[in-house]
Order: sequence, then C-alpha cells, then structure tokens
Amino acid sequence: MTNLPDTTRALIARQTEGRKYATTFEDIALADLPEGEVLVRVSHSALNYKDALAITAKAPIIRSFPMVLGIDLAGEVVESATSDFAAGDKVLVNGFGLSETLWGGYSEYQRLPARVVQKLPASFSPEQAMQIGTAGYTAMLCVMALTDHGLKPGTDAVLVTGATGGVGSVAVSLLAGAGYEVTAVTGRPEQESFLKSLGASEVLSRADIDAGGRPMARERWAGAVDVVGGQLLADVIAQTKYDGIVAACGMAGGGDLPGSVYPFILRGVTLRGVDSVMVPMERRLRAWQRLEAELDRDLLAELSETRDMDELPRLGPDLLEGRLKGRIAIKI
Ligand SMILES: NC(=O)c1ccc[n+]([C@@H]2O[C@H](COP(=O)([O-])OP(=O)(O)OC[C@H]3O[C@@H](n4cnc5c(N)ncnc54)[C@H](OP(=O)(O)O)[C@@H]3O)[C@@H](O)[C@H]2O)c1
Repeated sequence: MTNLPDTTRALIARQTEGRKYATTFEDIALADLPEGEVLVRVSHSALNYKDALAITAKAPIIRSFPMVLGIDLAGEVVESATSDFAAGDKVLVNGFGLSETLWGGYSEYQRLPARVVQKLPASFSPEQAMQIGTAGYTAMLCVMALTDHGLKPGTDAVLVTGATGGVGSVAVSLLAGAGYEVTAVTGRPEQESFLKSLGASEVLSRADIDAGGRPMARERWAGAVDVVGGQLLADVIAQTKYDGIVAACGMAGGGDLPGSVYPFILRGVTLRGVDSVMVPMERRLRAWQRLEAELDRDLLAELSETRDMDELPRLGPDLLEGRLKGRIAIKI
C-alpha cells in the first residue's frame, strides 16, 4: 500500500458571483477528491486552447463548481477499485469532460471514473503523452478523417491552418511524416523555418488563401485540417479539390462559417467535424496506436516544451495571445 499524502496541490476554480469564478492554487484533502474507481498520482498534464480559455475565464468551459482545471493528465495509478487497473499502471486521460464536469489534471492526485482512463501507450513516457495531449491526439483524429476518406500520400496535397499551434504543428508533423505534401498556413511568417523543420513543403500566410469572398475558387488541395473556423474555413472549403475533405476541429479564429453549399453540391467536398472530448474508447485507442507508430519522436521534442504548474496563470494568456508555439506539457 502506497503512503499517500493527506492533501494534493491543485489549480481550482471557485465560483464568485453568477458565472464568474476565481482560480487559485490550493491544498485539497485527498478525501475531498471526487468519487471514482481510480486514484492517479499525476506527473504531467498539458496546456491546450481549452485550458487557456478556462484559466483566463474567456469562455464558459467549466460547467460545475468547484472545478480542478486541466483537460489532460498522465501518471500512475495508486489505488484502483476495478480489475481493469492496478496500482503501478501508467495511465492517461484526454478530455472526457475533465475541467468541465469532472475534476482535471492540474492536481498532484486525481480520482476518476475508470471509464475515462486508458493505459499509457508503452512507448511514450507520461511527459511525451502530455506533450501530445488533447491537441496532438486531436491532430491524429483529423489525420484519420483524411486517411479514412481515402487520401493518399504522394498523390494528394494537404493544407493545415493554425500551423504553429498545438493541433496544427502535430498535424503538419504527422502528415509530412506519412509522405503528404503539406502546405502550412500561419499568421506568423517568422516561424517558416520551424514549420519547414516539421516537414511543411510550403508556408503560406492567411492572406495567401483568401478566396476573395467567392464560394468556390481554384482547386488547390485534396484535404485540409482546420483549427481556425470562420472566414478562413470558408476559404479553405472554397479551394478544396473535387471529392476532397476538410477536417474541422477548431474555432481559434471564430465560430461562424460564412460559406455556401456550392463546394459540397458541385464538387462533392466533405466537411468532417472532429471532436476529441467524447470519442469512444475504441477510437481513442486507435488514435494513440497510430501516434505511437507514426509520430516522429525527434519532431515531438522539437515542437514541445515542458513548463511548471506554477506558470499556468500566465501561460493561459500567453497561449491565447499567440506568444507560444507548438505543444506545452505541464510538470505537476
Ligand atoms: N474539436 C476538438 O475536440 C478540439 C481539440 C483540440 C483543440 N480544438 C480546437 O482547435 C483550435 C486550436 O487548438 P490548439 O490547441 O492548436 O490552439 P493553439 O495552440 O492556440 O493554436 C491555434 C493556432 O491558430 C492560429 N490562430 C489563432 N488565432 C487565429 C485567428 N484569429 N485567425 C486565424 N488563425 C488564428 C494560430 O496559428 P498561426 O499563428 O500559425 O496562424 C494559433 O497558433 C482551438 O479552437 C481549440 O479549441 C478542438
């Protein structure tokens, strides 16, 4: 039986008035952690776009209070009330309502329902798994949407928007590693050499893919991974080739979609929505198996950094204001 501390340090949001809340580090009694079959000693979490929104209270991510933040976690099981997990097992959780309805990963210990926990893929350390985190695993879900649609490396050119961000940088690495010709779209032209080091063959500015308000323009790519939404997504769809596919997972540039149906009905373009939060376990396991097989570990190291939990209050604004790039793991 492991010697457990009485308390766990956590970043927790407590409601102040109405939907407003304040977020502070607190020592919480282990006995006060939520109910669940699995108690995990968390070694790493991650910083994702949604975490930044929760830290800064810029969007209503948290649905019940008090709430421990952090949509991802990785660590070691210390207690388990189910035969699916045993003390000592290395595990991870992505999404599944962490930091929304379930207490999340910014805590030295967390107790969780077994249904949200999965074994850590053997070839990843907890730190590497959190460098990937929800953003990297979502990038793989987007890649799977493209490959399930039938896109072929060597034949089909693909586009990735928000390319220097978490989802975008992993998507560029995965697609280039698989042999696709990848065009990266970024608002940060000074990051061209970073994107080329990940495998992008061409780097374009956001203005370079402006379709000029036309619902359909010259056909340029067979597939795209979009994290931006809004007008940029409409422009991406307008320039997708006949029978192509756009995997849309984000709204970093806006939640609207000011396009028309013409690319769908005249070019057979598919718009595939990608959600990572409630994906069934079988598909998660498939995504992580593919990450193990396909993600270049040197590129993962190149696009990631690991920061300390104490830095979270300022890392949230830094991410939203475009001062970070790639992936950020958090050492708990
Ligand atoms: N559906 C899901 O389950 C799921 C999972 C993970 C993430 N997401 C969503 O995917 C999006 C990206 O997440 P992330 O973790 O990659 O965030 P991130 O690291 O902040 O990257 C977002 C990138 O988008 C670009 N961008 C930001 N603001 C923009 C704007 N106003 N117009 C155009 N481009 C803009 C920037 O790239 P450049 O500077 O290179 O242009 C930025 O680095 C977020 O909306 C997030 O909520 C969804």
